[in-house]
Amino acid sequence: RMTGQETIYFADDFPEPVKSLNIDAGIRSCLSFSMVVDGKGYGSLVFSDSAPTRRQWNHGDIETLRTLARLVATAATRANNIEQRERAVSGLLLRDRALEGISQGVTITDDKAPGTPIIYTNPAFAALTRYTLEEVVGRGPLSFFDADVAPRIIERMAQAAAAKKPWRMETSLKRKDGTSFLDSMVTTMIVDQKGDITHSVTIHEDVTEVRQREELLLEAQKMESVGQLTGGIAHDFNNLLTAIKSNAEDLRDDLKDSPILQSQAEIVLEAADRGAGLVAQLMAFARKQELQPKVVDVNALLERFTKLLRSTLPAHVDIDIRNVARLPAIYVDPGRLETAILNLAVNARDAMADGGTVTIETSLKTLDADYVAEHIEVQQGDYVLIAVTDTGTGMPADVVERAFVPFFTTKEVGKGTGLGLSMVYGFVKQSGGHARIYSEVGLGTVVKIYLPALDQAAPSEDQPANGNKAKPGTGSILLVEDDPIVRQSISGKLTRLGYQVVTASNALDAIETLKSNPHFDLVFSDVIMPGPMNGADLVREVRRRWPAMNVLLTSGYTESTVLGKVTLPADVHLLSKPYSNSELAKVIGEAICGSSGDTA
Ligand SMILES: Nc1ncnc2c1ncn2[C@@H]1O[C@H](COP(=O)(O)OP(=O)(O)OP(=O)(O)O)[C@@H](O)[C@H]1O
Ligand SMILES: [Mg+2]
Repeated sequence: RMTGQETIYFADDFPEPVKSLNIDAGIRSCLSFSMVVDGKGYGSLVFSDSAPTRRQWNHGDIETLRTLARLVATAATRANNIEQRERAVSGLLLRDRALEGISQGVTITDDKAPGTPIIYTNPAFAALTRYTLEEVVGRGPLSFFDADVAPRIIERMAQAAAAKKPWRMETSLKRKDGTSFLDSMVTTMIVDQKGDITHSVTIHEDVTEVRQREELLLEAQKMESVGQLTGGIAHDFNNLLTAIKSNAEDLRDDLKDSPILQSQAEIVLEAADRGAGLVAQLMAFARKQELQPKVVDVNALLERFTKLLRSTLPAHVDIDIRNVARLPAIYVDPGRLETAILNLAVNARDAMADGGTVTIETSLKTLDADYVAEHIEVQQGDYVLIAVTDTGTGMPADVVERAFVPFFTTKEVGKGTGLGLSMVYGFVKQSGGHARIYSEVGLGTVVKIYLPALDQAAPSEDQPANGNKAKPGTGSILLVEDDPIVRQSISGKLTRLGYQVVTASNALDAIETLKSNPHFDLVFSDVIMPGPMNGADLVREVRRRWPAMNVLLTSGYTESTVLGKVTLPADVHLLSKPYSNSELAKVIGEAICGSSGDTA
């Protein structure tokens, strides 16, 4: 196989640069064989002679050396081949290790064999499907799919085979134990020289959790945008209703002499009240209701509240209260918490037409990093959990999904507005907690509300004694309001209720008035006012100078006004607009008499 040519050189005609090197080394003549194997050159083998006379290379020499050269060339070729093969093998081993080690599942099918069996799989795919490697090899890929999706997959495979292009698919794959996971697959076909598909390589990835998380995020975003829309509408209606209510009330009060007109004003007022009720629930859902949070002992609140619940629920519904002995306190609006629990209890009642049990359980729950990972909108930490469980009809999954959405109801017209759970959701969210529904058709429902636990234990329920100075309807009020029309209207109402009223048009004015006469029974101020001080600042200043003074704030919409731009001083009552004359009378009376505004 060696077709090398031999050449004899003498010192005179050595080619440069060999010439001077050789002559220096005393070499006078040499015989060179070029080594070429299968047309590929491997170099030359050179025999040198240093005899001072020209060496006579005879035929015998040449033959012997040519054989030697041939042997050397063959050995060199062989060594080269082995090295190449070793390199190839270690490349294969590396690819093999990579396939065995990657976290995605890999399957290779033999597409020429009937049923296109899997001929290779890696440990990741075995782990995904909970089969052993041996169990996977030999199976047809279709055996991993549910019977109802198999036809769709066969169709996709055929389309992909015709196009010879990689294809993707996301579908559920069955595990050995019967459970399934959402598999994201990419399949690439291997084509031989003739263009026929010989094998298919598929990469598998379990995307169950990723997709679930995406869905939760979408759900949260949807609730967020519905909340914004609702809040915007509610805000505008709130303003309109305030005007309607206030004017209808004045009409009713002033039309004593014409009973027909008076009763019409009454109808307007009733309708406005109903509207205000709806708007309040919408505001609650939109997390824009005015909350008056207090440090609350949930167990004590439930104990008091059970009496009211008992009278709301029919006799064939049992109430079971289960409390964990020592619970941390929470900081929420107690009145709204009661409304939320009442809404849940009423839903439970409606779901148990034939009777059953409502269980209200409280406990301390730590929501850890794992829980938070699954429920994106939740903050890690300690929560007081209030779980309201019923033994009623339960809800199918699609009802659970929409139950918190405002106006979603399955009840007949007139029976439900679909705002009960929306209020619960908004209230809990606004209080820094979160709400969840678990329901099983035919078994019942549990709604869990988590409210952030305070670092302190619940306070004792004794209210501090209060130095009452006045009775409702007597006493003097300093009314602070910048809008002259509103100021006049409220002043008139307060006067009609029996109070002596002095007015101020801004906070500085009010302070000046107080300096000359600090003996008012109440400072009643709007929150948002032009000038250097708003209502909240005024309250702080009044408390600093005249600590015993009663104060009461009033405000309309709170989104950015009260809760965003202004920080309310602790424990100050806020009368939210729109309010009725009777509400005004009640709240003013409470503020002056110091009896707590607790509805419980
Ligand atoms: N405990 C429960 N058992 C079964 N279904 C429930 C339960 N709670 C709520 N639902 C379902 O969720 C829907 C929405 O409840 P939600 O309290 O928001 O409104 P509603 O009860 O229909 O009306 P509203 O509370 O405004 O009177 C209900 O119509 C009902 O289908
Ligand atoms: Mg309801």
